[in-house]
Amino acid sequence: MTDKTIKKNIILIVDDNQNNLDVLFDLLKKSGFKVLVALNGESAIKQIERIHPTLILLDVMMPGIDGFETCRRLKTNPTTQDIPVIFMTALSETVNKVNGFQVGAVDYITKPFQYEEVLSRLKTHLTIRNLQNKLQEKNTELLQANDNLEKLVEQKTKQLIQQEKTAIIGRLTQGLFHNLRNPIQVILTTLSLIEIKAQETGDTVYLKNSEHISTAVNQINDIINTLMLKSRREQEEDLQLVNINELLRREIQLLEADFNFSNAIKKKYIFDDEIVSIPLIYCHISQIFHSLAENAIDAMSGGIVKELTIITRQDEQRIYIDVKDTGCGISPENLSKIFDPFYTTKLAKYEDMETGVTTRNGLGLYTCIELLKPFEGEITVTSDCENGSIFTVILPKNIKRFPL
Ligand SMILES: Nc1ncnc2c1ncn2[C@@H]1O[C@H](COP(=O)(O)OP(=O)(O)OP(=O)(O)O)[C@@H](O)[C@H]1O
Ligand SMILES: [Mg+2]
Repeated sequence: MTDKTIKKNIILIVDDNQNNLDVLFDLLKKSGFKVLVALNGESAIKQIERIHPTLILLDVMMPGIDGFETCRRLKTNPTTQDIPVIFMTALSETVNKVNGFQVGAVDYITKPFQYEEVLSRLKTHLTIRNLQNKLQEKNTELLQANDNLEKLVEQKTKQLIQQEKTAIIGRLTQGLFHNLRNPIQVILTTLSLIEIKAQETGDTVYLKNSEHISTAVNQINDIINTLMLKSRREQEEDLQLVNINELLRREIQLLEADFNFSNAIKKKYIFDDEIVSIPLIYCHISQIFHSLAENAIDAMSGGIVKELTIITRQDEQRIYIDVKDTGCGISPENLSKIFDPFYTTKLAKYEDMETGVTTRNGLGLYTCIELLKPFEGEITVTSDCENGSIFTVILPKNIKRFPL
C-alpha cells in the first residue's frame, strides 16, 4: 500500500480500555491512517452510521454489548455489512475465536500488540477489501455491458426481421404485379370496347357501370405502377440537379389549385435560400412531398386549427424538408407501423367520378421510403396527438451511388 492509499482509509478502533486505544491510535496515526475511536459497541454503531469507516478493530470483551454482538448487528445492516471487522483479544481471555468468524469477522489480533503484525494484517485486509470493491465495480460494469448488448442484439434482430419481411413482401409483390399487368390490360381493352358499344346504343346504365369498373381497374393499375419501382439504370437516366426550394414552390402552386388547401388551411413556408441544388429524380421528390402534404391535409381534416408549415434547411452533409401539421397526430403504438405497406387508418372509399373521393391504400409513406433508398435518404417523424406531426425528409448532399 502506498502512502496515498493509506491516507484514504479510515480505521475505527472500538475498545473500552483507554490504554489500548491510545497505543493503537498513535500507531495507526503515525502510519498515515485516518483514525476514529469508540469506547463501546453502542457508540461504535452510532458512529459507523454517520461515518463509513474502511475497517473496524473491535475489542471482544466490552461492557454493554460485546464485540461479537456489535459485529453481528453491523453484519445484518446492508449499509455496514461490507466493512471488514478484525477482533482484538487479550492472550489471557478465553474467547471462542470461531464465534467471531461466525458473526462475520475477517481476522483476530492479540493483545499485547505486535505492532508489525497489526500493521501487516491491517494492510492485507484493506488490500483484500479494495480488490473486492474493484471486482464488484467490474462486475456491475460487466452486467451493464451485458444488458446493453442484449438490448442491442434484440433491437438488431427486430430490425433484421423487419428488413427481411419487407424484402420478402417486396419480392412477392414485384412478381405478383408483373403478372397482374397483362390481365388488367385485357380488362381495360375489353371495357373500352364495351364503352364504345354502349355509346353507340346510348345505353347509359352500361356506360355508367363500365366507367365505374374502369376507374377501379385504373386505380389498381396506379398502385401497381407505383410499386413497380424502376431499375437502377432507369433511375440514373432520370437524375438531374434539383433545387428543393424551387421544386417545393412549384408543388405548392399545384396544391393551391385545391379549394380546401387554398382556403381552409393556414400556411407557413420557411425556406433557406442558401440551399444548394443536389442530384435527385425530380418526380420522385415531388411525389414524396405530395404524399406528405396529402397526409398532413388528411390529418387536419377534422380539426379546428389547421396549419401547415413547410421548412427547408441544410447542414454540411444534408438537406432537410420538414412538413409540419396541426392534425390528429399518431399514437405511439401506431408510429412504428406507418411505413408498412398497406397500413392505413383512413377509411377506404371507392373513387367516385362525381365527388372525386379517392381511396387510401396505405402506400404513400412506404413508397416515399422506397423512392428515397437510392439516394440514401430517409424520413423521420415526431408526432403526438396534441400537437400534430412533423415529417422530415433527409437528403444527403453527396450520394455515393449516384455521382453526377
Ligand atoms: N401527418 C400525419 N398525421 C397523422 N397520421 C398520419 C400522418 N401521415 C401519415 N399518417 C398515418 O399513417 C398512415 C399511413 O400513411 P400513408 O401515407 O402510407 O397511407 P395513407 O395516407 O393512409 O394512404 P395513401 O397514402 O396510400 O393514400 C395513415 O393512414 C395515417 O394513419
Ligand atoms: Mg398517404
